[in-house]
Amino acid sequence: MKISFANVSVPKTGTLVVGILDGGTLTPGAQAVDEATGGALSRALKAGKFKGTKSHFLSVLAPAGKIVRVLCVGLGKAKDLDALSLQNLGGKIVSQLATHAPSIQVLVDALEGCDLDAPEMASNMALGARLASYRFDKYKTKKIKCHQPQLKNVKLLCAGSAQAKALYAPQDKIADGVFLTRDLVSEPANVLYPESFAKHAKALTKLGVKVEVLTKTQMAKLGMGALLGVAQGSDQDPRMVVMQWTGKPKRKGAKASKADAPVAFVGKGVTFDSGGISIKPSGGMEDMKWDMGGAGVVTGLMKALAGRKAKVNVVGVIGLVENMPSGSAQRPGDIVTSMSGQTIEVINTDAEGRLVLADALWYTKERFNPHTMVDLATLTGAILVALGDQYAGLFTNNDDLAQQLIDAGQAVDEKVWMMPMGNGYDKMINSPVADMQNVGERWGGSITAAQFLKRFVGDIKWAHLDIAGMTWSKSGKATAPKGGTGFGVRLLDRWVSDKVEG
Ligand code: BES
Ligand code: MN
Ligand code: ZN
Repeated sequence: MKISFANVSVPKTGTLVVGILDGGTLTPGAQAVDEATGGALSRALKAGKFKGTKSHFLSVLAPAGKIVRVLCVGLGKAKDLDALSLQNLGGKIVSQLATHAPSIQVLVDALEGCDLDAPEMASNMALGARLASYRFDKYKTKKIKCHQPQLKNVKLLCAGSAQAKALYAPQDKIADGVFLTRDLVSEPANVLYPESFAKHAKALTKLGVKVEVLTKTQMAKLGMGALLGVAQGSDQDPRMVVMQWTGKPKRKGAKASKADAPVAFVGKGVTFDSGGISIKPSGGMEDMKWDMGGAGVVTGLMKALAGRKAKVNVVGVIGLVENMPSGSAQRPGDIVTSMSGQTIEVINTDAEGRLVLADALWYTKERFNPHTMVDLATLTGAILVALGDQYAGLFTNNDDLAQQLIDAGQAVDEKVWMMPMGNGYDKMINSPVADMQNVGERWGGSITAAQFLKRFVGDIKWAHLDIAGMTWSKSGKATAPKGGTGFGVRLLDRWVSDKVEG
């Protein structure tokens, strides 16, 4: 979808969108359209008893001349309009009109009492509109015309349109990253497997990202026995992808220092999780095509950061495997040696994500010595029991980092909730025969999973986001249609821009 901005005018043709404030007060744009249509808007609002309640809509068809439709949008109270509510409104406008018009023009006015100026309002609505326009319909061969979204162009009319355009430009790159994540998460596992996933990551080279792909042989040489144990039951060979974006300007004459150390993002990329020999029940198993959600976020985030040319040094590392049962699959009771040298007794082959991350985290730490490491994983069903689909689980060894991530999540409506960690939980994964086992008891399953990861991060400042409840949505919301959400890209982009850049 194409987003554009222009200065205020009253269009004489097409589909228009105007705002109505709480109580039914017309915004200046709505007033101008009302006048241009001989009072058609105010008559329709009265007849429809439309009071401008937030997120209520009223369509006025063919009010005058060549104007096809005016969508009146309830804004609620001006003082309650903030960045997130405007993004949501932008998204809802797209949902309202997607199947009705190829192009729409949205009149945006600065409003008394609202903290945002017109360019800020317009750029937030634009972002919401773009995020809501996402579709994954490439496998639908019979498209039904009247159900097909036809909306291709959204033009926002506001004072200071050049400024709105400049504010929106980086957001559009972030949306590109979100869309890549949604695409990856939506692809079925017969299409997206470690090798094909790595090709998508490789494509980021065009944006200036350095991309290396490690093969099974290379990983074996590095001693990644934990990751390789998961992969060994599948006919698809594993891959590890290392993406580097070096956007931080070099200080003249300065020696390399800790300040140049990158931040690292590490993702679980299980392209299909059957559970392995500890096989999952068949009901809902298709969901496990999106068990690469963490890796999907890391890849989309690299695209977002490179796209907007973020002034940071970032590495993204993703461990890509398929977890399958077969004659060569790893068995419960097997003991593997991770790259760190620590041994792991595999009690349950379905607790595979932590085995993949164990080697990915250790590799990242050893090679890059990052100043902060954040991993993302659809790691446990237990986090869904705890937090549902409202918050991702946050586990960390650093309280400042926790607060930073909580704040970034609030700012973009990708919320995280901090979960406890501690020695008591750590003990639960001690094994009688190896350094640790890959599962604890039934209770506190998300926490023991995090404790397991913690054993592979050393002294690095680290956070783990369990996104199992957030990666896929069966219902959808204003800025994310149902399906792959891309949750995590905007959160971590925001954290980078607020806390790492500049
Ligand atoms: N990929 C799953 C976790 C998951 C469950 C993600 C539901 C998304 C939705 C993970 O590999 C897994 O199977 N975890 C097990 C761990 C258990 C064996 C200790 C789980 O949560 O049941
Ligand atoms: Mn599993
Ligand atoms: Zn899994």
